[in-house]
Amino acid sequence: MGTQGRHLLAMAAVVAAMGGLLFGFDTGVISGALLLIRKQFSLGHAAQEILVSSVLVGCMAGAALAGPLVDRLGRRRLILATAALFALGSVWCASAHSVHSLVAARVMVGLAIGAASFAVPLYLSEIAPAQVRGAIVSLNQLMITVGILVSYGVDEWFSAAPQGWRDMFLAALVPALALFAGMLFLPGSPRWLLSRGRVEEARHVHARLGADPADFEEMRRSLAAESQPARQPSRPLREPWLRPALLVGVGIMFVQQATGINTVIYYAPSIFQMAGFASDKAAIGATVGVGAVNVLFTLVSIRLVDRVGRKPLLSLGLVGMTLSLAVLGAAFHWKAQLGTELRWVAVGSLFVYISAFAVSLGPVAWLLISEIYPTRVRGAAMGLATLCNWAFNFIIALTFLSIVDLLGPGGAFWLYALVGAGGWIFCRLAVPETRGVALERIEENLRRGRPMADIGLPTQADPEGAE
Ligand code: BGC
Repeated sequence: MGTQGRHLLAMAAVVAAMGGLLFGFDTGVISGALLLIRKQFSLGHAAQEILVSSVLVGCMAGAALAGPLVDRLGRRRLILATAALFALGSVWCASAHSVHSLVAARVMVGLAIGAASFAVPLYLSEIAPAQVRGAIVSLNQLMITVGILVSYGVDEWFSAAPQGWRDMFLAALVPALALFAGMLFLPGSPRWLLSRGRVEEARHVHARLGADPADFEEMRRSLAAESQPARQPSRPLREPWLRPALLVGVGIMFVQQATGINTVIYYAPSIFQMAGFASDKAAIGATVGVGAVNVLFTLVSIRLVDRVGRKPLLSLGLVGMTLSLAVLGAAFHWKAQLGTELRWVAVGSLFVYISAFAVSLGPVAWLLISEIYPTRVRGAAMGLATLCNWAFNFIIALTFLSIVDLLGPGGAFWLYALVGAGGWIFCRLAVPETRGVALERIEENLRRGRPMADIGLPTQADPEGAE
């Protein structure tokens, strides 16, 4: 790939990944903002829960609406609209004068997060060459983790002033404007342009990205095959041959959320306090540590994902997550016997847990759903998987404290460990390896009805499987 192509690709990746940063920032910012908001508006438990989960309701709606829109409007235009929503939502949050308007503003931010959470990986997967696609798409997840960490820092920075929550929300305006401005200068996805019949434009962008002209012809052939009337059903997601891929996409999102990642992201300070860290400061300090480890191990994953592949990372990560959850559960269960040691077991196991997540399910779940669907239905299918991701997130966040009341923290973590063990089996049996495989080959295998786990393997027409 030439220098110009590399530069353009790098710029596209960095700018588009601003969407990931906003996703992470707006996810994490509420934890610190809530402390000030609840004082200012004298909020009870129920009102706080509504405020926290309002963003998730917006995310579900955003993913549901953007699914069909991303195919109609195009990836680039949808990301532009998303950036504008992020900017407006941040200003609205910062200037809200009642809880009602704050909740409405958070729903608006949620709409943007929901749309960005799949439009960005989708765009990235379509402009990246196969050999580096894993790393480029995972950049989005890296930026999510950076966004979460930055939000913890911003919360800390503005926490002294009673109205500091306004600045916390307003801070998101900077990356939102950067995303908008950057996207104005970037090209549309060549795959999407082709799917709209804009062949010359697509060829031009493809060449500018420095990609191999042979890949362009391959992409054209595959899209032309898809355009045959027999291959264009009116309800594409209802096609039987697509069902296994949809199930794998939804399944991987279930495993990602139901192993409890966001109980840690949203409630880490509370978990540390349950484990015996008395002061807010110590609990928040440990939480920042969790955020930093999340970033660090996402970086490790990015280095490994195109070398060792997606499946080994998933297997390893799920083993680490399951074991650390089991240990954490046991520590809470035998709290009395452990005494003050509990807090160190809690810190140790949460750090192992978050590292294992960051190296595997964090980036790989989003990567896989950007790889396993045919171009024409990719927007709608990724939208469905993303919608399920947010719905599972919502359910887990809403039920965590009740499960703790019912089963104790030990029981809650054991429950998540059980999902982890089931997830390991699911990944071994059903998840395909997609490392270095052209998206077109994945698609062809899917159409031929090969078992899901084999759709990354060479097709019969392509026995060597070389790129
Ligand atoms: C998940 C989010 C989570 C984040 C943590 C993402 O992959 O989808 O729900 O908050 O990782 O890093």
